[in-house]
Amino acid sequence: MLTKLQTILKKALRGHYAVGAFNINNMEICQAVIRAAVEKKSPVIIQTSEGAISYAGLDYLKCIAETAAKQKVPVALHLDHGRDVSTVKKCLKAGWTGIMWDGSHLPWKDNVKTTKKAVKLSEKYGVGVEGELGTIGGAEDKVSAREIIYTDPDSAKEFVEKTGISALAVAIGTSHGAYKFSGKAKLDIHRLKEIRKRVKIPLVLHGASGVPHWLITQAARYGAQLGKPEGVPDEQIRLAVKEGINKINTDTDLRLAFDAAVRKTLKEKPEDFDPRHILGPARDLMQKVAEHRMDVFGCAGKAKR
Ligand code: G3H
Ligand code: 13P
Ligand code: ZN
Repeated sequence: MLTKLQTILKKALRGHYAVGAFNINNMEICQAVIRAAVEKKSPVIIQTSEGAISYAGLDYLKCIAETAAKQKVPVALHLDHGRDVSTVKKCLKAGWTGIMWDGSHLPWKDNVKTTKKAVKLSEKYGVGVEGELGTIGGAEDKVSAREIIYTDPDSAKEFVEKTGISALAVAIGTSHGAYKFSGKAKLDIHRLKEIRKRVKIPLVLHGASGVPHWLITQAARYGAQLGKPEGVPDEQIRLAVKEGINKINTDTDLRLAFDAAVRKTLKEKPEDFDPRHILGPARDLMQKVAEHRMDVFGCAGKAKR
């Protein structure tokens, strides 16, 4: 059975660690993440963006997630960056156990108003809502913000009180995608501490992929043209967890692992056209990446329900 988002996050808040929230778009990605969680005895959040839902279909994702939840680790199924009320309603009805309402692109008043509405809708299902204040930079399929507006600590307190959310995504310098920093990677840890002093609910870090150099090198060796990507170093993630982050989103690192592995297989075995031989190694590499993330987040070994 799927576990509620707030059940997993409340434990993380009490235990001072962060749980990985990994974006899934198909069966292999989900299997990679769940295998990592089982191997690491870790709770895990699998999350679907609105883009993932239109790609794979709500029913397929639901079946994949429910199958994943039969494993012996707590698994939450979360909507990532919900911006469409009808998608929120569909996910709740289908059994998603966490909802993110992303009103961060709206003016303050509208962010509060729409987030409150998402909380009200989700309450009926006993499901907690993750809200977002400030903007996380970068651009992906359906989620984009041109610039980063850092979260103001006092506004964060007011936002949590006014909306009744169960978790808050904060902007402290991360951005979505593979190109997060042009100079030295640095998160605004001082701001995080100030937010943590005022906000008592779990805090969420988006755009947190590490973009490991070894993965970029492998992808490039087999033909990827990725330029000079830069992620959030593990030490910065560890510091963010120490200062109060309880949920860490990862999509880009899984995409890079998938890409690097598929390219390698296609290059090394040009005669092989069996999808299982192409997707299998990609699944393994995504699992390896997810396992490493779980170690860094501190959620490894925390699977006890
Ligand atoms: O934060 C965004 C996630 O990486 C999902 O991206 O909208 O392209 O599925 P997507
Ligand atoms: P990355 O692009 O850094 O993996 O962030 C993903 C994310 O925040 C999903 O909501
Ligand atoms: Zn995000």
